[in-house]
Amino acid sequence: DKGHYRHYMAKEIHEQPEVVGRTLAHYLDLASGTVRLPFAFDFDARALSRVTISACGTAFYAGLLARYWLERFARLSVDIDIASEFRYREAPLPERGLMIVVSQSGETADTLAALRYARAHGQHVLSIVNVETSTIARESDTVALTLAGPEIGVASTKAFTCQLAVFACLALALGRARGVLTEEREKELVAELIATPGLMAQVLKDEARIEPVARDVARASSVLYLGRGPSYPLALEGALKLKELSYIHAEGYAAGELKHGPIALIDFSIPVVVLAPHDASLEKTVSNLQEVAARGGHLILVGPNSAKVAAAADLAGFIEMPETAAGAFAALVYALPAQLLAYHVSVFMGKDVDQPRNLAKSVTVE
Ligand code: M6R
Repeated sequence: DKGHYRHYMAKEIHEQPEVVGRTLAHYLDLASGTVRLPFAFDFDARALSRVTISACGTAFYAGLLARYWLERFARLSVDIDIASEFRYREAPLPERGLMIVVSQSGETADTLAALRYARAHGQHVLSIVNVETSTIARESDTVALTLAGPEIGVASTKAFTCQLAVFACLALALGRARGVLTEEREKELVAELIATPGLMAQVLKDEARIEPVARDVARASSVLYLGRGPSYPLALEGALKLKELSYIHAEGYAAGELKHGPIALIDFSIPVVVLAPHDASLEKTVSNLQEVAARGGHLILVGPNSAKVAAAADLAGFIEMPETAAGAFAALVYALPAQLLAYHVSVFMGKDVDQPRNLAKSVTVE
């Protein structure tokens, strides 16, 4: 049931404050403002040397983003690869290591094969899944559920932000279990996490501002997305959403990688969407934005007003975000403008939003 929404995707985008809130409540103790996982680690978190992550598509990007949190808050190095590559790589895995697989459906063939490879090589498998009865959930040692509810739109939206919410809690829990995160810091970070659903709601309230930007993007035949740190996987995810929904060619790049090649593409016909949350890398991202501006680029900034002021550049579009958007976990909030932009471009172009051509909701064959 789409309710009063035109598309399942719109409904699912708008459900995010609620389902992310619900997912966080499942992994946090809201009263004390600390993490409380609904399962115990039945592996020795202190003895872990690294974590392996594998998934496909949007779930892979959630893992790529989680790497920043696992390294930073749990001091765990992360080896991550798409499942179709990982399953055949013959990767050596650490003794009694931890493997995390991520899947909305829990039925993706390549992700299941990656899980089976890891199990055969002695890993403890933790899966982040949205379907409790799925094959991946059944074959895992530990199941971390995303409480997103059924996701019908082929383009993943609420499952993605719920995967991020679970990963964030997991990174903090591992940090605590490994003795590398103080309780005080844990509480500060949990407070930032708890703020995300409210910030998401704020972004959704201002959705109408995205439409003129979408009309502009709909005219392009190619779009670039740039981000740094956790915004880099988000740039990849934003580009994937746009490709899936509008069939416009789009690529995500790490902002710092621009001058190593992609900057050659810059001209006014290619919109460049810059994801610039107020975090430690904002200044650097702004200077990458200015490099694009200096070459006559077509800039669309997604960021707080302070980023716009700092950029002091000609912008073709600006999607203003709340000034203090969730600190370390800003990605949960910045996922929304990326989803909304792709959605509105697709609607504007008259494409099939919920059932894009050539795509299946769940890829159960290799
Ligand atoms: O069900 P899964 O999370 O395992 O699916 C993985 C990908 O097929 C999926 O995320 C796909 O990339 C989506 N269409 C992205 O919107």
